[in-house]
Order: sequence, then C-alpha cells, then structure tokens
Amino acid sequence: MKPLETDRLILRNWETKDAPAMYRLNSDEVVMKFFPFRRNRVESDLLLETVKNKIADKGYSFAAVELKQTGEIIGFAGISDITDNMPFAPALEIGWRFLPEYWGKGYATESALKWLEFAFNTLEKEEVVSFAVAENTASTAVMQRLGMRYFPELDFDHPSVSDDYPELKRHVLYAISKDQFNAQNS
Ligand SMILES: CC(C)(COP(=O)(O)OP(=O)(O)OC[C@H]1O[C@@H](n2cnc3c(N)ncnc32)[C@H](O)[C@@H]1OP(=O)(O)O)[C@@H](O)C(=O)NCCC(=O)NCCS
Repeated sequence: MKPLETDRLILRNWETKDAPAMYRLNSDEVVMKFFPFRRNRVESDLLLETVKNKIADKGYSFAAVELKQTGEIIGFAGISDITDNMPFAPALEIGWRFLPEYWGKGYATESALKWLEFAFNTLEKEEVVSFAVAENTASTAVMQRLGMRYFPELDFDHPSVSDDYPELKRHVLYAISKDQFNAQNS
C-alpha cells in the first residue's frame, strides 16, 4: 500500500522493526481487556508477517499507525473483509487498537476517518461496519465520533468467543454508508 497520511499520523504497512510494538498490541493486559486471547512473541511475529503480506496483496488490512512527530508505532487501524461466520458477513470491517499511553488524543478517530475515506472514495465500497464488546465504550465512542450508526436489533454473540468468556461474547454492531460519510465530510 501507498502510505496514507493525516495531520499527525502515517498509516503504512508493517516492517520487521515494528515487531515489539505489534507484540505489545497483542499481549498488553490493558489493551487486550476485551479480547479472550493474548499472543506470545512468536504468534505476534507471525501475525505481523501475515498482515504485512495481506496489505502487500490487497492494499489494505490493519495497518501500522506511525506518529509523525516521533516515528513511533502507536497502534494499528484499518479495514478488513469479513467473509467468515459472522452473522452480518460478507462485510467490510473497520477496527483499531492503540497503546494506552496514546489514548485520549484523538489518534484512533483520526486514523479511522482516513480509512473510511479510503474505503468509500478509493475502493468505492458502499458500507463499512464496526463491532465491539458492548462494554467497550472507548471503542463504541470512536464509532460514534466517526458518525457510525448503532443497530440494536443486530447485537450478536461473537462466534469465535468461547463460553468460557461469557462477558466477552455479546457484541454491538455499528455501520456507516458511503452517502452518509460523504454528506458528513463534504
Ligand atoms: C478503542 C481505542 C482505540 C479508543 O482510543 P481513544 O483514545 O479513546 O480514542 P481516540 O483516539 O479517538 O481519542 C478520543 C479522545 O481523545 C480526546 N482528544 C484529545 N485531543 C484530541 C484531538 N486533537 N482530536 C480529537 N480528539 C482528541 C477526545 O476528546 C477523546 O477523549 P474522551 O475519550 O475523554 O472523550 C482504545 O481504547 C484502545 O486501543 N483500546 C484497546 C483495544 C480495543 O479495545 N480496540 C477495539 C476493539 S473493538
């Protein structure tokens, strides 16, 4: 992918040197509070390679977010095709995950807005969805800031979350259409 740029951020493909940041994003207890798994370093390095190849092939996925001012990787954000057993598949998902010291600065919303613009105006997609554990209000607040709409009738139990984690099963679904995005951002 050609890196995408916002005022403060560069959204780009992963590089081998980003492995420590990717590992923190997959193992930190605070970051992973609403996920039923943690990745060890080997699993995280493997994921980095998988996502890197996906971005090289398709031109998008969950990309590294680099802070322009320091060159640090502060999180990831991006879009990904949902083709599996989710109740709303097929769909294009938008998602984000940032290191805690970079929360509260608007970086998730800033990077996601750029990805929505890319999805609607470069890929010409008609709709983008996002989902989260209902209690993950930091994430649903990002969805709301992006102007995404909540569909309460589409709440669902995540098919990949086992019954061992009942508190992480129930998810909410938000969506935004191309027309809605362009009307909000023209
Ligand atoms: C979800 C997550 C990315 C949200 O991060 P966040 O920092 O709350 O969201 P944003 O980056 O959009 O920042 C918004 C906050 O920055 C503030 N802010 C400060 N400076 C800002 C600026 N220049 N521009 C915009 N907002 C700014 C906003 O007021 C808002 O604060 P508030 O939460 O007190 O209202 C983060 O909590 C996270 O990574 N969680 C762990 C992983 C996760 O759960 N991912 C989602 C799975 S579904």
